[in-house]
Amino acid sequence: MDNNNVQRDGFSSRLGILFAAAGSAIGLGNIWKFPYITGVYGGAAFILVYLLCIALIGLPIMLSEFTIGRRAQKNAIGSFKTLKPNSPWFLTGWMGFIAAFSILSFYGVVAGWTVDYIVKAITGAYVGLDADAIGGLFVGLISNPVMTVVYQLIFMILTGLIVYGGIKDGIEKYSKILMPLLLVIIVILDVRAVTLPGASEGINFLFSPDFSALSAEAVLVALGHAFFSLSLGMGTMITYGSYIGKKEDLGSMALQVTIADTVIALLAGLAIFPAVFAFGVEPAAGPGLVFITLPNVFNQMAGGMIWGVLFFLLLAVAALTSAISILEVVVAYFAEELKMPRHKATILATAAISFVGALAGLSYTSVLGNVLIPLPGFGSLVIFDWLDMLSANYLLPLGGLFISIFVGWIMKKEDVIDEVSNSGAIKISWFGAFMILAKVVAPIMIAIVFLNGIGIFKF
Ligand code: TRP
Repeated sequence: MDNNNVQRDGFSSRLGILFAAAGSAIGLGNIWKFPYITGVYGGAAFILVYLLCIALIGLPIMLSEFTIGRRAQKNAIGSFKTLKPNSPWFLTGWMGFIAAFSILSFYGVVAGWTVDYIVKAITGAYVGLDADAIGGLFVGLISNPVMTVVYQLIFMILTGLIVYGGIKDGIEKYSKILMPLLLVIIVILDVRAVTLPGASEGINFLFSPDFSALSAEAVLVALGHAFFSLSLGMGTMITYGSYIGKKEDLGSMALQVTIADTVIALLAGLAIFPAVFAFGVEPAAGPGLVFITLPNVFNQMAGGMIWGVLFFLLLAVAALTSAISILEVVVAYFAEELKMPRHKATILATAAISFVGALAGLSYTSVLGNVLIPLPGFGSLVIFDWLDMLSANYLLPLGGLFISIFVGWIMKKEDVIDEVSNSGAIKISWFGAFMILAKVVAPIMIAIVFLNGIGIFKF
């Protein structure tokens, strides 16, 4: 069965590709992180900057990743080896591999929390508690070694089971079920939130910009988040791109995934802020926004149990379709480069990442809380934060930088044109603009963010 000579697995339909790629992009980044950083960095003005980053940098890099993957028909590391043999470019793929490993390790921990919160919402664990007690409940979870590891493991096993099925019969099949489910849940939550009495204040917060609230730091956060939210910089979209059929239009695919990701982030904000404002809770609650502020809001809403269950289910579903895309980067490498049977590769990758993930989870507990690892520019961090900061500030920006340079400067221009136009079958009047963004705009902007992120210079 696992024979490397049989035809390579791939997506079977256009809709399947869109659901899978959008499923990768839409994740905890959209529903957990986007709303809270919007709250912290000032609302609508931040959103505008974020949209610019998405359009000028995110979109061209997504198309670059699809182009590399489909051209090479390989995993993230093999793609660079194929397109630029005997050169150090494969190191870009390696960096992606390490980023995938690091990101999924801490992502699985947060996703585990969402699973625990589904249980909490069903069993009414936070019902009747005041804000402090709800905060205590969250701290109680993340500092409990057994719960942290068990929930992370449950989530990782689910992720592994889907990837075990392969592309068509695993990732695509489940994305086609989970993504419509996600859309239905978020629309229900939106309708509930915007029809609450007093919702308009939250809507204004999201959509009327106050530019005085904007800082240089906000711009950097916006760009960094654009990368994370679109799953860029570590080869996820290279790997998925390699499974896209030769007849599909990569440009419109990249555009549709980018729009879907952005719309869902905005819908998440629209589900959260009107409710938060309607009940007079502070929006800038930071990472605790969904695990502390929202249970507080659900407590005050009629039918709060239902809204709580739906919301945490939404988070878990969003996390799952993203996690499978990250795991696939590692599995595809094991299977293709190390010539491992795919099933074995999946088990090995899931086990290895779960192990590092357990260390990450335990670093918020007393078990590993005093293990500090230095990271240049960031002092010494616990394992969870180290993995997060390493990937967000070093690996993803550098990966994105090299990917845009690779497509803009290293690949033959005719090859890029051939790939994005399907050998001339589709008109690509936008190609010139794409090249300017990939060659110049994206690399310069990313370089600025990178140097700033690691503290070489500060705005
Ligand atoms: N985009 C996902 C989110 O918003 C997370 C994710 C999946 C990711 N694949 C990635 C982030 C690749 C960076 C790189 O939650």
